[in-house]
Parts: sequence; structure tokens; C-alpha cells
Amino acid sequence: MGKLKELRKYVDQELMGLDEEKRISAAAHLYGVSLAAALIAEKRDLDSELLCMAAMLHDLHAYRSGSYDDHAHLGAELAREILGKLNLTTPEETEKICSAIYHHDDKLVTDAPFDEALKDADVIDHCFKDPSKEVKEKERSRYQALKTEFGL
Ligand SMILES: [Fe+2]
Ligand SMILES: [Fe+2]
Repeated sequence: MGKLKELRKYVDQELMGLDEEKRISAAAHLYGVSLAAALIAEKRDLDSELLCMAAMLHDLHAYRSGSYDDHAHLGAELAREILGKLNLTTPEETEKICSAIYHHDDKLVTDAPFDEALKDADVIDHCFKDPSKEVKEKERSRYQALKTEFGL
């Protein structure tokens, strides 16, 4: 089994611990960000499978704890723990995934290309899941840049 598929099995299992409403929205978001991540990775020539793995883990701490307080930094620690346990990634790959998760809530600053790709994938899911919703202030410039990048 591929490492993304293996990780998804683990994440799906984690989500089973949530109540139904939370589980549905958590799964929709993680898989939505993962799909957006694959598109962005293809466009920017990044490691698509690795970026999808970061997407699958990026908000897991918030779902587990029920709080978004510092969830990016705490989520990076949790991802390191999970990846260590599953033994799917090299130390360099684990580093890349954890860095992207660590920075994913810093939407107004620019980090490394792989980190930026996860932020943008998160924004795509937020903005396109419900087009009737207003785009959040802190995501507006990324949303515009993404539309330009994808010729929309
Ligand atoms: Fe988040
Ligand atoms: Fe997210």
C-alpha cells in the first residue's frame, strides 16, 4: 500500500472518534485540502504525495482537541508523532510535512514553497467549498493570486 493510502487509513480511524457532524466536516476538509494540494503540487512541480499527506494531517490536532488555539504548531508535533509511529517517511520527508503544518496558519507571510503550497490548498478548500460565503480578509490576496495562477 502507498504511504498516502496508509496514512489515510490512520486518519480515517482517528476521525471515527469524533461525533458524526464533526467527522463529516473534518473529513470533507482534509480530503478537500488534499485534492487541492495535488493540483497545486502538479502545477508547481512539488512532491504531490507528500503534500497530500501534509493536508491529511494539517488540522488533526484541532479536531482531536476541539480547539484551534495554536493548532498549527501543536499539529506539527502531533504529525511528527504519527509519522514516527507509522514509519512511512524518511526524516527529510517528515521534516517537510511538519514544517508545512507548523506554518499553515500564517497566511499573511511567505514561507518555503512547500509550506506555501499547503496554505494555498487550505485556502482553496475554504473559498471553493461554499462559493456563496465571503472570502475571509486574511485569505483574500492568496485567493486572488490562486485564481490568477490557475487562469480563473
Ligand atoms: Fe488549520
Ligand atoms: Fe485547514
